[in-house]
Amino acid sequence: MSNNNQMAGSLHESSCPDQMATTALAARLAGIVVAGDLIALSGGLGAGKTTFARAFIRALLQDSTAEVPSPTSTLVQTYETSVADVVHTDLYRLQGAEDVYDLGIEDDRPEAVFLVEWPDRMPDYWWHDALEIRLKRPQGAPAGEDEARTVGFYGAAESWAERLKKVVS
Ligand SMILES: Nc1ncnc2c1ncn2[C@@H]1O[C@H](COP(=O)(O)OP(=O)(O)OP(=O)(O)O)[C@@H](O)[C@H]1O
Ligand SMILES: [Mg+2]
Repeated sequence: MSNNNQMAGSLHESSCPDQMATTALAARLAGIVVAGDLIALSGGLGAGKTTFARAFIRALLQDSTAEVPSPTSTLVQTYETSVADVVHTDLYRLQGAEDVYDLGIEDDRPEAVFLVEWPDRMPDYWWHDALEIRLKRPQGAPAGEDEARTVGFYGAAESWAERLKKVVS
């Protein structure tokens, strides 16, 4: 998990008993974002970062079957939505901030909504006002297609607490 966001407190923790709960949560989050927002998706391999991002993007596209591939190999996928362009990136294969600048997406930050997998590689200042979502398999969760996840929300309360009321209950 990120050390860069340690200053920001835990805002909420949701339990998602199955994948549909995770995708519904992602869709609700999509309903409150605006241009310039950055959502940092943390969690180990297979935690569900891409699954969350796919549901979020499909909600913004208002297309529940839209093709949303994992950006693990392409590094960046972008989508035009009615709210803002969405930049979905996976930094797993990058070493750090210098590599991130080479992606050439920096200029889009103020105008787009960013979804960042493996955000521990991103430039420090990208954490400013970021909402970090930490996906985790609870210990003892049964293995299989549909597993439980806990989804923790972290960020600056003044930026996110009020808006998140529409996402979590
Ligand atoms: N409650 C759940 N929420 C999210 N994903 C779930 C859940 N239960 C099971 N899954 C499964 O877990 C897997 C998550 O894979 P996904 O590619 O989204 O992970 P990731 O965090 O993006 O991994 P990577 O670090 O490789 O990018 C999928 O196969 C998904 O079907
Ligand atoms: Mg992924």
